[in-house]
Amino acid sequence: MNPLRSLILAAAENDAIRRVVATTPGSRSVVDRFVAGETITDVVRVVRRLADDGLCSTLDYLGEDTHDKAQAERVVQAYLALLDRLHAEGLADHAEVSVKLSAAGQRLDHDLAVRNAHRICAAAEQCGTTVTLDMEDSSVTDDTLAALAELRRTWPWVGAVVQSYLRRTEADVADLATPDSRVRLCKGAYAEPPEVAFPDQHDVDLNYVRCANALLAGGAYAMFATHDPRLVAVLAERIRWYGRKRGSYEYQMLYGVRPDEQRRLAAEGETVRVYVPYGEQWYGYLMRRLAERPANLTFFLRSLVSR
Ligand code: FDA
Repeated sequence: MNPLRSLILAAAENDAIRRVVATTPGSRSVVDRFVAGETITDVVRVVRRLADDGLCSTLDYLGEDTHDKAQAERVVQAYLALLDRLHAEGLADHAEVSVKLSAAGQRLDHDLAVRNAHRICAAAEQCGTTVTLDMEDSSVTDDTLAALAELRRTWPWVGAVVQSYLRRTEADVADLATPDSRVRLCKGAYAEPPEVAFPDQHDVDLNYVRCANALLAGGAYAMFATHDPRLVAVLAERIRWYGRKRGSYEYQMLYGVRPDEQRRLAAEGETVRVYVPYGEQWYGYLMRRLAERPANLTFFLRSLVSR
């Protein structure tokens, strides 16, 4: 992995750096570019704006690695309140939620996290939308896929996420690529050792295409999460080759990343879903975005010193 990327991902775990970034006034403008705000009202405003532009959303209440039950409960309550509000505002057709199991208590107790996820799924079903389980670092891949299987027994529409940088992912996709199975395919955003993840970006991209083919061939509802223009072009060709109709797959991109491309695809009639994070715990998320792209880091550093 690129040393700069490793450094920023290490900073994502560092509490002292988090405090410095959080209290530096200039960091706000960068946070605002990638994060919808801190409250439900903030995120609802963004969902409505995206919907007006023909874009769907998946909403992430920021927070990961919950280490006590009370915090896990606060996360569940936040999702329940969010789903309630989406329903009340008539936005449930446009927005689903993305949930990190670690925020729901996964590292504390698998069963607790699954029970919490069930509660979020029940609320989502009631308001007519869906849930996707974000995929975190490789220490929880097995546990997350096991939780997914448990949840899908009751809620078959729960979305999975697979990461093409992981060597294991092609095999996981073979299991998940069944008709109507909702699967988000992304490259992967965590620091992983070479035994677990391809160190070479070219291999990550090749694996992305192999996994995309498997999802399209297997009849899954594929959710292609990437900003990579080369991959978007390859995907368009693969979708045509497999004779996939619009509405049987979608593109996904992050809030604040390539917004023009999001609108271009939507204007062509594609379903495009924007991943919209909100909440007070934006630090780890922001660091992963900065690690992905040196231009983002330059923008960030410039905004810190230009105050
Ligand atoms: P990559 O970062 O390799 O960039 C490829 C190219 O895309 C660049 O060369 C550039 O041309 C273009 N590009 C990228 N960023 C740009 C920018 N800011 N501005 C302009 N062009 C840009 N990860 C994870 O581990 N678990 C998860 O659950 C999720 N969930 C998720 C949901 C959604 C909707 C998305 C889009 C992504 C995720 N991710 C994720 C993150 C994902 O794994 C990955 O880290 C990022 O999407 C970056 O990878 P890209 O595919 O965009 O390519």
